[in-house]
Amino acid sequence: LVIVLDFGGQYNQLVARRVRECNVYCEIYSYKTSLEKIKEMNPKGIILTGGPNSCYEADSPTYSKELFKLGIPVLGLCYGAQLMMHVLGGRVSRADVREYGKTKVIVDKADSKIFENVSKETICWMSHFDTIFEVAPGFERTAHTADCPVAAAENEAEKLYAIQFHPEVLHTAEGTKMLSNFVLGVCGCAGDWRMDSFVEESVRQIREKVGKGKVLCALSGGVDSSVAAVLLSKAVGDQLTCVFVDHGLLRKNEGDEVEAVFGPEGNYNLNFIRVNAQERFYGKLAGVEEPEKKRKIIGEEFIRVFEEEAKKIGAVDFLVQGTIYPDVVESGLGGESAVIKSHHNVGGLPDYVDFKEIIEPLRDLFKDEVRKAGLELGIPEYLVFRQPFPGPGLGIRIIGEVTAEKVKIVQDADAIYREEMDAAGMNKTVGQYFAALTNMRSVGVMGDERTYDYAVALRAVNTIDFMTAEAAEVPYEVLQKVMSRIINEVKGVNRVFYDLTSKPPGTIEFE
Ligand code: XMP
Repeated sequence: LVIVLDFGGQYNQLVARRVRECNVYCEIYSYKTSLEKIKEMNPKGIILTGGPNSCYEADSPTYSKELFKLGIPVLGLCYGAQLMMHVLGGRVSRADVREYGKTKVIVDKADSKIFENVSKETICWMSHFDTIFEVAPGFERTAHTADCPVAAAENEAEKLYAIQFHPEVLHTAEGTKMLSNFVLGVCGCAGDWRMDSFVEESVRQIREKVGKGKVLCALSGGVDSSVAAVLLSKAVGDQLTCVFVDHGLLRKNEGDEVEAVFGPEGNYNLNFIRVNAQERFYGKLAGVEEPEKKRKIIGEEFIRVFEEEAKKIGAVDFLVQGTIYPDVVESGLGGESAVIKSHHNVGGLPDYVDFKEIIEPLRDLFKDEVRKAGLELGIPEYLVFRQPFPGPGLGIRIIGEVTAEKVKIVQDADAIYREEMDAAGMNKTVGQYFAALTNMRSVGVMGDERTYDYAVALRAVNTIDFMTAEAAEVPYEVLQKVMSRIINEVKGVNRVFYDLTSKPPGTIEFE
């Protein structure tokens, strides 16, 4: 186990992810975690993350000196590096020049364990105002840049390492190597952790937390909630009940498909309950046009439906959600990032919830990691590699007011689009694709008659982590065929657009 102590930086999850990529298990804890707790966990190494503060100011996050005297190797990154120097008697203050972006770092100590097999001059990602001007007693400088006298320092005897730049960011060309040098080389971790260990560890933690309690899981049939549900079922078996709310905003036939896989006829024992709440959601959404309001309504209504189901099955202690890390960041809960959208899985929780606690077993994972966990759990590939579908569903793919009529239009158009994309083999290469309904109607002509109908927008994006994305190059013939089929087969549509916008500035979904 390696512990990542979170000081509020933007890249903290990336640190954890890179450590996992070295096949080392790691957990993130707040910098407020007590020394006793850390000793109890007996980690093989500790990483202090970056953060937005200045370590020499009175109310900045800090940690006691004792942390560095446990005999456990510590690696400080950015703020963590400055803090280590400050606490141990070095000098950190504001520099004249702010370093930001890709920067050439010159390694001064060729035999430093951290820089083993790293080039002598290497490009690193810098982002700091404060600078280490003097290393603490017992430390030596191991790297510098043109503007930064101490880009890295170490006290080899005490196994304390400080790095001013961000090895966790991919712009740091040899960053993963450095982190791997720390966790494998310095800390002596075995590097034999795999996703199955995540599954095992989560099962253990869930059992411990849940005890004999009853668990209710919000199953949507998407990758995230399916993985969460199967994980929970593995951990607590019959104590789990899965409720699938058909909110009437699913893709065409999806409700029945989800029921076929996870329901009583399927392969899993999930105590599956389907709630048909279509009319209820349409009712609440009538007349509402504002995207955030729509998201809040859908999210809140979801919770209400769960509460009602929970009452029917008796006391429930825990609610499971398939929240994954990018949801957490975009909702503004992950460190410093601003709120982009209130994600269905995280935002929009009503003030009172009739559950003791929420369990989010995938909260620290990126999408590709969730998929790996899904495969470990034996979930079929076609489900694991299914396109992501947002919690609020077609509600955020219909711009403006949602009505049953519009839902039907977008479901039919989307089904055609997906059918043709699959037939063209695009489902293997494109990250996410779907049809959306714009709120625009325009004039057309069909069979000598004037039409005044809706415009459908087709979206297809390539993305690795869904935080950034680019419009995919869908072959023109495919687009043309989709256009022609939609216009001929879907009543109420007379125009089709292809969305070329990347993310940023656009988002993947329309609202
Ligand atoms: P955006 O539109 O924010 O989408 O670029 C990024 C990824 O997240 C999905 N998404 C959601 N998933 N609840 C979810 O579970 C939501 O509220 C939500 N909003 C967007 C989206 O489909 C894309 O894959």
